[in-house]
Amino acid sequence: MSAHVFWAPGRVNLIGEFTDLVGGPVLPAALDLGVRIEAVAADEIDLCSHELGGRAHLTADGSSPGDEAEGWARYVAAVAAELALLGRPAVGLEGEISSNLPIGTGLSSSAALEVAVGVALCSVAGFSLEPLELAQAARRAEHRAVGVPCGILDQAASLLGRAGDAVLLDTGSLAYEYVPLPEGIALLIVDSGVSRRLESSGYAVRQEEVGRALAAFAERDPREITPAEIDAYEAKGTLDPIAARRLRHVVSEGERVHEVVRLLREPSAANLRRLSEVFAEGHESVRRDWEASTPELDHLVELAQENGALAARMTGGGFGGSIVALAWAGEAEGLADSVLSAYEGHDDAQAKAYVCRASDGARQIS
Ligand code: GLA
Repeated sequence: MSAHVFWAPGRVNLIGEFTDLVGGPVLPAALDLGVRIEAVAADEIDLCSHELGGRAHLTADGSSPGDEAEGWARYVAAVAAELALLGRPAVGLEGEISSNLPIGTGLSSSAALEVAVGVALCSVAGFSLEPLELAQAARRAEHRAVGVPCGILDQAASLLGRAGDAVLLDTGSLAYEYVPLPEGIALLIVDSGVSRRLESSGYAVRQEEVGRALAAFAERDPREITPAEIDAYEAKGTLDPIAARRLRHVVSEGERVHEVVRLLREPSAANLRRLSEVFAEGHESVRRDWEASTPELDHLVELAQENGALAARMTGGGFGGSIVALAWAGEAEGLADSVLSAYEGHDDAQAKAYVCRASDGARQIS
């Protein structure tokens, strides 16, 4: 029997950072970097991986036959267990996982793995789910595997991606639409070399803090809360300063997502100048109000701006990881070289750059 091939991309978020924790809008694009599985249907799940190292060997419903799953096998087990709860017949999968997606750089390597495993397990069992149902199962798998209370951004982007487009997703209603990236624009991602792991980062703490702020607003829809109200609540002492800052970030960030969408849809010279400002405001808001940037990310954003990026900001879960810059396709490699050589002169960390295209989402290739 010839093996099937499955693919799930990583993602870069253009703007709308941490807004999925409060049901706000996000604007990611799927990348041309991702996770590939070559496998056949089998009695058990038995997947090995040269790049990731090790093996996931489990019963077809995700329960481990012997010891508890470890490392990346935890994600495989968690996806299988979530799909079993949705009624997937217990058909196993035997094969090899490979990945060209750097791990721990804020490009959603774990979501890409979850989604690739999910697509493959559904296919061999003849079990079909809508993309956003699978995204939600993969998100629950992330919680189950490593206890990270992430939002839906990463898994949804991996499934919904479309070549040439960003995806505007309302993480509250799960309504989405595609936003074409202007012709000739490339996505430059620069990894700061400071690896991040959501498990050990302040991600969960931030979620609690913004939850506290929303509770003070009696769980009102964050889209209806104005910056002036946040100031007033803080002045009255109804909101502590930390909770106020976290809420200020998600409220202002939601507005920036919609402004970026308007600017990308009409990319005149004036609008591209404004795009640069909005990205800079978004970065500053993550740094000052959400407090999830790092000196290395701040430095990379400055270097990208100084060296001709159309727009630049941190991207992903913060506390390390990568920046995203928009650049004219013909200039992206040169921009990457300039940023890397200036950064290496000043920072100890080893940075890496990736020039990417917005790409199609997860699917069975053969
Ligand atoms: C991580 C999480 C996402 C999202 C981003 C920040 O990638 O997995 O759900 O919260 O951080 O925007």
